[in-house]
Amino acid sequence: MNTEIMHKGDKMSDILLNVNSLSAGYGERNVIEDIDFSISRGEIVCVVGESGSGKSTLLKTICGFENVYINSGSVSFKGQQISDLNPKKRRALMGNGIGIIPQNPAGSFNPLRRFDAQFKETFLSHRMPYEESRILDIFEKVGLSGGKEILRSRPYEMSGGMNQRIAIAAAMLLEPELLLCDEATSALDVTTASAIVDLLCDYRDEKNVGILMVTHNLGIARKMADYTGIMQNGRFIEYGSRDEIFTSPKMEYTKRLIEDVPKLAGVVNG
Ligand SMILES: Nc1ncnc2c1ncn2[C@@H]1O[C@H](COP(=O)(O)OP(=O)(O)OP(=O)(O)O)[C@@H](O)[C@H]1O
Ligand SMILES: [Mg+2]
Repeated sequence: MNTEIMHKGDKMSDILLNVNSLSAGYGERNVIEDIDFSISRGEIVCVVGESGSGKSTLLKTICGFENVYINSGSVSFKGQQISDLNPKKRRALMGNGIGIIPQNPAGSFNPLRRFDAQFKETFLSHRMPYEESRILDIFEKVGLSGGKEILRSRPYEMSGGMNQRIAIAAAMLLEPELLLCDEATSALDVTTASAIVDLLCDYRDEKNVGILMVTHNLGIARKMADYTGIMQNGRFIEYGSRDEIFTSPKMEYTKRLIEDVPKLAGVVNG
C-alpha cells in the first residue's frame, strides 16, 4: 500500500477504500490511468473533471461492474480486493457495504414497477426489514413530500429530479459504509441541491461513513471535500486537501477551474 495516500494519519483499520495505481477501461485501452487515493471512515473525497474525463468509469471500476476491466493496479474495500469477489459476494457488498447513487438515477429502477415493490425487494435482498416510516422520513429529508403517494407511483411517472432524490434516498436507506455519488445533484434546482449536500455531510458526520462524490461543480467540492482529485483525460492531474486545491492549486487547469466557479450559478456559497 502507498502510505502517502493514507489520510489524517488514520489507522489502517479506518481505511474503507484503497485505490492503488489503478488503470482500467472497457477493453485493453485505459479510460482511467494510474489513479491513487484512499478514503477513510468519516472522509469525503470529491472528484472533479470535464465531461468524458473518466469520473463515472472510476466509480464503475470501484463497484466492479462486469464490463469494466482493470488492466493494472487494484481496488480494495476494507482490505478485500473487489476483483477477487465472485458475483454473489460482490452483489452482497453493494448496498450495505458500498452504495452508489448512479449518474442516471432512472436507470437504477425498473421504470414500470411501483417504488414500494422495488424498495421491498431491495430491503429483502439485503435481509433488512421493510419499514415504510423510515422511507417516508428520508423522503422528507431529500425534499420529497407526499411520500406515501410516491411509493405507490412508478419511476416513469416522476420527474428527473424526483427520481434523482428517490435514488439518493434508496442508497442512504441501506446505510452503506461507503457512498459513491455520481453527479448526485445534477438534475436538481439550487435550493434542493444545497439541501442534499447538507444531508450528505450530516450523514457522514452521524454515521462516520466515507463518501466519494463525483461532481462537475467545484463549489460543491469546496464545501464538502476533505480531499479533491482533479481529473483530466483519465488521470488525477492534481490531488490534495481542500486547502491545497482551493487555496494553492499547482496546476494551471485547476486554477482555471477555480477561477470559473464564481461565473457559474453557485449551488453553494463555498
Ligand atoms: N460502456 C462503455 N463502453 C465503452 N466506452 C465507454 C463506456 N462508458 C464510457 N465510455 C468512454 O469512457 C470515457 C469516459 O467516460 P465517463 O462516462 O467515465 O466520463 P465522465 O467523466 O463520467 O463524463 P460525464 O461528466 O459526461 O459524466 C468516454 O470516452 C466514454 O466514451
Ligand atoms: Mg459521468
